[in-house]
Amino acid sequence: MKYLFPEKPKKRTCHVADLAVKPSARRKGVGTSLLNYGKEVAKKQGLTRYTLHVDADNRPAFNLYQKTGFRVVTKKKNILARWLLGIKEWYFMSQDLNTATKA
Ligand SMILES: CC(C)(COP(=O)(O)OP(=O)(O)OC[C@H]1O[C@@H](n2cnc3c(N)ncnc32)[C@H](O)[C@@H]1OP(=O)(O)O)[C@@H](O)C(=O)NCCC(=O)NCCS
Repeated sequence: MKYLFPEKPKKRTCHVADLAVKPSARRKGVGTSLLNYGKEVAKKQGLTRYTLHVDADNRPAFNLYQKTGFRVVTKKKNILARWLLGIKEWYFMSQDLNTATKA
């Protein structure tokens, strides 16, 4: 899937992929905790950016990412992503780990 996206993780970047919480455990703060934990680990390793891709139609995930400090950097449409994954539009989101605080 990473080959579908033009934004490749740069040096000193922690890129999140395949985040998922068991359906019965959702909406209890698990996704938030996982992202905050990843943020702390990345900071301790001296990384400076936290990035991800998300399907623009995935409201639960998009809301979670906004709430944990990610902001939309680019919005893209890709025929291959639509054909292979059914994703009409996706967002590349990022946050600066030097200024990020816990959600
Ligand atoms: C997206 C996902 C990881 C969220 O995990 P979670 O543990 O339920 O998230 P949290 O409980 O920490 O929720 C934090 C915030 O995210 C948003 N959110 C989570 N689920 C939501 C939903 N069903 N609808 C709308 N917003 C939602 C809310 O803003 C929520 O804060 P609130 O509960 O105070 O309103 C989970 O729904 C999931 O595994 N989805 C399927 C896999 C997936 O789409 N992964 C993302 C790939 S990019």
